[in-house]
Amino acid sequence: MPHVPTGVFSLDLIVCSARVISIHICSYIPVKSEKLEILMSGKSAKSEWSAKNPFFTNISDNYVLNGESSKKETRHIVFNLGDSGLQYKAGDALGVVPRCPPEIVEQLLEICGYSGEEEVETNLGPCSLREALTDRYEIHRVSKKWLKGIAERIGDSPAKIEMRIVSRKRFSSTDGTMIVDWEASSEQDVPEGYVEIGEVGDNSAILLQELISDNDAMEDYIWSRDYVDALGDFIGFGFTPQQLLEGMDRLKPRLYSIASSPDFEKGTVHLTVAIVRYNHHERDRAGLTTGFMADRCETDKTQIGVYMSPTRSFVLPEDGTKDTIMVGPGTGIAPFRAFLQQREINKDSGRNWLFFGDWTEEGEYLYRDEMDDWKERGIISKHDLAWSRQGSEKVYVQHLMEKNGEEIWNWIEGGAYFYVCGDKQYMAKDVHSTLIKICSDYGGMSLEDSKDFVENGLMKSEKRYLRDVY
Ligand SMILES: Cc1cc2nc3c(=O)[nH]c(=O)nc-3n(C[C@H](O)[C@H](O)[C@H](O)COP(=O)(O)OP(=O)(O)OC[C@H]3O[C@@H](n4cnc5c(N)ncnc54)[C@H](O)[C@@H]3O)c2cc1C
Ligand SMILES: NC(=O)c1ccc[n+]([C@@H]2O[C@H](COP(=O)([O-])OP(=O)(O)OC[C@H]3O[C@@H](n4cnc5c(N)ncnc54)[C@H](OP(=O)(O)O)[C@@H]3O)[C@@H](O)[C@H]2O)c1
Repeated sequence: MPHVPTGVFSLDLIVCSARVISIHICSYIPVKSEKLEILMSGKSAKSEWSAKNPFFTNISDNYVLNGESSKKETRHIVFNLGDSGLQYKAGDALGVVPRCPPEIVEQLLEICGYSGEEEVETNLGPCSLREALTDRYEIHRVSKKWLKGIAERIGDSPAKIEMRIVSRKRFSSTDGTMIVDWEASSEQDVPEGYVEIGEVGDNSAILLQELISDNDAMEDYIWSRDYVDALGDFIGFGFTPQQLLEGMDRLKPRLYSIASSPDFEKGTVHLTVAIVRYNHHERDRAGLTTGFMADRCETDKTQIGVYMSPTRSFVLPEDGTKDTIMVGPGTGIAPFRAFLQQREINKDSGRNWLFFGDWTEEGEYLYRDEMDDWKERGIISKHDLAWSRQGSEKVYVQHLMEKNGEEIWNWIEGGAYFYVCGDKQYMAKDVHSTLIKICSDYGGMSLEDSKDFVENGLMKSEKRYLRDVY
């Protein structure tokens, strides 16, 4: 993003549109101016804790599951349930309420010149600006609505905005003397030494106009920017504390598939969390909730709001003699760790077949020791591992399903339950079509009949093809 040069200067613009508005951009230096749509109900059967009224507890254990060579950061995170009365079953998810990074809150306050004590209105009632930025809004990703809100403030149709410099005054930042004092005339549209488009293109109004009129540019802009970046570009428009919040996304809890059985890991709830980290515009950034849990939650100390999000569908078979096939690459392993713990506790006689995969055996074989132990003791009857970045070719879980197609069909024909957990966008779709192909190849059905068998038979009527994908 082009930056207006710092220093003391003033630039008067006439903005011509259906409504004529003049914008006064002082400088790039900050000006001083004044349910989750709850993904599921959030309520546990036995307690009143919910997304709106979370139970505050701490993390009792938090460690990286990856090997030293790994470029991923997948953590095992354990929460205490204390005396909350929170109950869960294998297959449920935990809701975690994040808090925004305090250093970003402070940066925003500093940029705007606020103390943080200013009172603002929010959907949850009045509070201080600091509290709103910390606990009520998502400040780590700029929202489209916020940008559109600025455009609405400055004019009805920013897409039609045209600009012309009408005067330019520039003062020396060392002794305050005036260096440029220029007024537009019929002969001269830009001051001496200024390029018509170049300097005008460097201002916030033109950037805003581009974002409002070009959806791709908007998507591109919001993908990599937070409000520190955005205020760097738009602070010239001036924000009251209330205006600063207008259009920001409300803070939402995030869900995590629970990686423990309550009977196996009493009084605690375990998660398998992929920490989201990236770098844009030369600043390291993290996902709101994963960054919060990984970087700012001190073990046994920091209070974190949690609640249960129970599932009615992603459950173990009531009949413990039934076989299960579990497909869970990456963090998709989480509920299957819970299922295997529960099957062990229940002494279920049904067989368990686990498909797991990730980048490399050395770096991303999550819970290797536990899996080896379950294999040795026969709790995992069959285990297939797909390493996607180990050899010359990508090996994914569905490739190993294909190789074992006939046996998968035999298990399914024998009443096995088929579970998938993890990435919704690609993995779950590929596993779905592989399952249809397998049932067609080995079940003697056309692809069309197999699709109907899988989607209407297994999934809807028999409810033994179950997914927890995100
Ligand atoms: C039912 C369910 C179960 C889930 N279970 C698990 C689980 O067991 N384990 C787990 O780890 N997650 C799980 N998730 C995902 C989890 O809820 C969060 O979405 C995830 O942890 C990210 O949250 P965050 O707040 O850290 O990141 P956010 O602040 O929400 O940011 C994530 C977003 O960052 C963006 N992003 C990612 N990389 C970049 C980049 N390079 N540049 C710019 N933007 C980027 C993406 O748009 C992504 O959507 C589950 C989700 C659901 C719905
Ligand atoms: N919204 C978020 O920010 C966020 C945060 C955490 C997790 N998630 C979601 O949760 C999922 C789990 O994340 P994760 O890091 O644990 O694992 P992941 O990214 O799903 O990767 C696990 C394994 O799946 C492989 N894979 C990629 N495409 C596949 C496909 N089409 N079919 C089968 N396997 C495929 C990966 O291989 P390659 O990578 O080598 O291709 C890797 O070996 C992610 O995919 C993501 O969608 C999202």
